[in-house]
Amino acid sequence: MPEQRLRIAIQKKGRLSDDTVKLLKACGIKVNLNTQRLIAHSDNMPIDILRVRDDDIPGLVMDGVVDLGFIGQNVLEEESMMRKVANEPTAHKVVKELAFGECRFSLAVDNDFDYQGVQSLANLRIATTYVHILKRFMAEANVPYTSCMLTGSVEVAPRAGLADAICDLVSTGATLEANGLKEVEVIYRSTAVLMQRDKPLTGDKQDLVDRILTRIDGVQTAKE
Ligand code: PRP
Ligand code: ZN
Ligand code: MG
Repeated sequence: MPEQRLRIAIQKKGRLSDDTVKLLKACGIKVNLNTQRLIAHSDNMPIDILRVRDDDIPGLVMDGVVDLGFIGQNVLEEESMMRKVANEPTAHKVVKELAFGECRFSLAVDNDFDYQGVQSLANLRIATTYVHILKRFMAEANVPYTSCMLTGSVEVAPRAGLADAICDLVSTGATLEANGLKEVEVIYRSTAVLMQRDKPLTGDKQDLVDRILTRIDGVQTAKE
């Protein structure tokens, strides 16, 4: 039996969650997210919402597990680079640029680190989740370093003695501040996008996607 309901992946908890849920609501998609459930069914449309870690969203779309995903460009870029190296599918369509989720992917060090430019990081350990984007930046800057891949809690790495610096997403800066870190270099600027699986959707599902896209335009124009 073909999957009749449109599946949309959103970030469960983090920078994009609130704005994504607000946008879905503004688009008229009614869904109860006041539960801990991984999958939430919309009451008024044939839509299922999957709530996952943002870093898992690009892969879920590229593998065709979900039809749509709300994701930061930087996370999408990192997953694409990772999959190319691993020879895994990367095909997808970016169907909408969104007016939220603005963030920077930045290098940060302890407040008392005497930072004189990226050369100050030569031969040090840098913790990050997004190893490929960092690697590209450091190669262009021609600064050797040791990469320390952490999938979460990157911001505690310096104090925990796991790394000398970190490279992570910064939105309000609250996470850095809470961990005694200062932002010293912006590597990548990003906003959220809506991505769709590459394989064509059945007629009904694509019609629904088109309606959602039109509604998003309406919501975003109204805000300008
Ligand atoms: C990112 C990053 C920080 C936080 C920064 O997490 O890893 O934890 O956002 O935001 P702030 O500057 O407003 O404090 P993300 O939303 O990607 O969640 P995750 O770490 O669970 O993937
Ligand atoms: Zn994340
Ligand atoms: Mg985080």
